[in-house]
Amino acid sequence: MQRLLCLSLANRDLCSDNAVAFLTGLPKCEHHMHIEGSLEPELLFNLAEKNQIALTSDMYSTIEALKTRYENFTSLDDFLAYFNAAMDVLLHEDDFAALAYAYMKRVSTDGLVHTEVFFDPQAHTGRGIALEVVVNGLTKGLNQGEKEFGISHKLIMCFVKHLSVDAAVEAVGQMSSYFASGQVCGLGADSTEKNNPPSKFASVYEKAREVNVPHLTMHSGEEGPADWVRETLALGINRVDHGVHAADDPELLKELASRKTLLTVCPLSNVRLRVHKDVKESPIPLLLEAGVPFSINSDDPSYFGGYILDNYLAVQKAFNFSKDVWRTIATNSVNGSWCSDERKKEITSLIDAHFEQWAEKDL
Ligand code: HPA
Ligand code: ZN
Repeated sequence: MQRLLCLSLANRDLCSDNAVAFLTGLPKCEHHMHIEGSLEPELLFNLAEKNQIALTSDMYSTIEALKTRYENFTSLDDFLAYFNAAMDVLLHEDDFAALAYAYMKRVSTDGLVHTEVFFDPQAHTGRGIALEVVVNGLTKGLNQGEKEFGISHKLIMCFVKHLSVDAAVEAVGQMSSYFASGQVCGLGADSTEKNNPPSKFASVYEKAREVNVPHLTMHSGEEGPADWVRETLALGINRVDHGVHAADDPELLKELASRKTLLTVCPLSNVRLRVHKDVKESPIPLLLEAGVPFSINSDDPSYFGGYILDNYLAVQKAFNFSKDVWRTIATNSVNGSWCSDERKKEITSLIDAHFEQWAEKDL
């Protein structure tokens, strides 16, 4: 907690007071946040005790040591070992509800108004946890958060790329009643990119179409190359999670801009997982110049040193954007959301009101 606070303060220190106040109040939409990645070490240790799960691995000596380890990931795969191991403490519906509610509570002071939350069903069913325990628990926590804090939400299942294609097709099939009811609104894909080109998963997205999944996305171009972002588009997917390596290919940027494909960019994650040395290396200015819509997101906030506002502040610290640029980012973020048109209008009104309040002030 102390360390997170310090990081926020570090980002704050280097932004003007006005920029901090402006960005805190700016109504935000988040599209790339793994709920399992919001499991803070304190909750992890509490749930382990409650559920009598021995944290015997030397990964888990103390909360402080764990937090220090999180500051020193060497790659996506290094992080994934911790991300996947920590989930073992989530057993009951109320554990999933507590996790989701803790996230909503934490971001309620960050100006978040709408969130689209990933979860990895295979990571839980593979440990013998029933699907309804996972989905109903998360829904319960998110609904409670919406009631208390006014943050609207959607759930997106991700299949994991480290298991087989057949297992992913099966996982999508098992989720079909939740897609039909709207309790889960989309399909994504996460986990390791190594040796996993998007085309390998064509049949998973075919299955998604067969069961009428309303929205499709995929983690792509985080560690993988620009060509893999092209392959993602070729699968008929019109949102890309991360996608930062698309910026290596100017023709691809033109295509993303003309298709209005939203990239869900995660600046602090990219630094922690060594995609970039510093947020200043993020291609965000290139995306703006090319007219590619993107949103700013936290990815796995408890592992990567910050929630959504910390990511906004880190971007401002790196690029010192004007209010006009922030209006473009905020507008693209709403338009790229998977909420109803009615909710988009409400959020747009909130953004308009925020800019009106700031009309006479500079950042
Ligand atoms: N990339 C891939 N898989 C993930 C991530 C990520 O950033 N976070 C959680 N699972
Ligand atoms: Zn992610």
